[in-house]
Amino acid sequence: MPPSTTHRPVTVFDTTLRDGEQAPGISLDTVGKLEIAEQLARLRVDVIEAGFPVASVGDFEAVKAVADSVGTEPGAPVIAALARCAPDDVTRAAESLKGAQRSRLHVFLSTSAIHRTAILRGASEDDVVATAVAAVRQARTYTDDVEFSPQDATRTDVDFLLRILDEVVAAGATTVNVADTVGYAVPYDFGRLIARIVERVAGGASVSVHCHNDLGLAVANSLEAVRNGAEQVEVAVNGLGERAGNCSLEEVVMALATRADLLGASTGVHTPEIARTSKLVAALTGYPVQFNKAVVGRNAFAHESGIHQHGVLADRLTYEIMRAEDVGVAGSQIVLGKHSGRHAFGKQLADMGYNLDAAQIGRAFTRFKELADRKAEITDADLDAIVADEVSAGAADAFELVSLQVSAGTSSAPTATVRVRLVDDDDVVDQAALGDGMVDAACGAIRRAAGPKLDGDATLVSFNVAAVTPGIDALGDVTVSVDVAGRRYSGRGVSTDIVEASARAFLNALNKSVRLRRPDAAAAPSEPTGTDQIRSTP
Ligand code: KIV
Ligand code: ZN
Repeated sequence: MPPSTTHRPVTVFDTTLRDGEQAPGISLDTVGKLEIAEQLARLRVDVIEAGFPVASVGDFEAVKAVADSVGTEPGAPVIAALARCAPDDVTRAAESLKGAQRSRLHVFLSTSAIHRTAILRGASEDDVVATAVAAVRQARTYTDDVEFSPQDATRTDVDFLLRILDEVVAAGATTVNVADTVGYAVPYDFGRLIARIVERVAGGASVSVHCHNDLGLAVANSLEAVRNGAEQVEVAVNGLGERAGNCSLEEVVMALATRADLLGASTGVHTPEIARTSKLVAALTGYPVQFNKAVVGRNAFAHESGIHQHGVLADRLTYEIMRAEDVGVAGSQIVLGKHSGRHAFGKQLADMGYNLDAAQIGRAFTRFKELADRKAEITDADLDAIVADEVSAGAADAFELVSLQVSAGTSSAPTATVRVRLVDDDDVVDQAALGDGMVDAACGAIRRAAGPKLDGDATLVSFNVAAVTPGIDALGDVTVSVDVAGRRYSGRGVSTDIVEASARAFLNALNKSVRLRRPDAAAAPSEPTGTDQIRSTP
């Protein structure tokens, strides 16, 4: 059932590009962030939290790029940036948002006793209040849209929590965001807390919730918060985020849409864009979506048992509570074939909502032609995969796969030979390796070719392969996690050949490891916590 406009509106604050990106191994550069931000705008979320600008030059640039482009389009969402409660953080975040039509500064500070002791070096409640109030006042000098998050709110003494919220609202915070930072809340109790806060704030600011999923309760807690008066939910596409992730955008939006009868609230999300958004985020982050994931999993609308199939054929509503087309799962259509030209290809991508530059279209077209030689029917799912692969490859890559040959037999060890272009040196290297299997051999040869340019050993930690469409000639979609000198990087590659897809994914992860250590990516704390949350205030 599409969302109704007659219900209480709930603001959807998407943090895929900030908290979602903090999931281990994810590193989105400006191009990837822009691509996702554009899609989030098509999805019509209300707020896009684009990053944590003080974390690195790269993150600053990415937030600025989102603010300057997506944030200036007609009907653009609000663009938000995160800052610790420290003057330089707030200034930097404000700087990054200057280009946006509507911007929000989001400041946060730990409030629980355990965080005050362990992270804020024993800061007292009074210290924390003073620092938070100063940051909110400073933020208000840049914008009239300021959000304050008490970090670890759900483990904070309730009286202190209410006190600090009173003080930041008096100082000018327009949204107070109750952060269940460690996913500790359970629905009934959380709902009661939110009801108390809503009553206390009483219209002085909008009440928001930010739920993590450590106990698998992020969506349930967010819904209970809405039932108790919360006006904003903070979410990430595919539930990405620290540890077990954040509240999943697609689940909470579809729960509100499907059970509006009970919950009486709705969002402005354009739900038919959900599936495409989920796929794009999975592709660019390298985090695959589990098959049985609610709403966007491959099986979410698949019926296996005969009884279910019979029922669905008789009346879809026997076993489906949402329409597949309402979340954009209409089934892949055959769109292009081997004889399609560049013009038709470019038009098809534009019709699908992609806004690529000429170089990206050129690269994607080359991949499309290669694929068309191997696969008779190219579907929109194939095109989504190709485009995401080319965008995630990016112009700033240090390595390019020029060629790959593998051989294997029952009596000989698998061997791979690769040619890799070292872009910065304008040189190519040839390497070969034996392996336990063909994927292992291909990764071994790539490791040898790229190794001298890496910070340390590169080890494949996890490997996942899925087919983009049904059929023997389907594109294989490989996602990997690679450890380079003790840090994890995700990578993704697609090809009809699984070994080639694996090699591309492995190289994609190595490229990220190089990109991240470049000067523009320096000094990114992996989490926006850190001991100077409070000490860096004047
Ligand atoms: O989980 C958390 O506490 C956060 C805050 C910065 C809102 O992400
Ligand atoms: Zn969080």
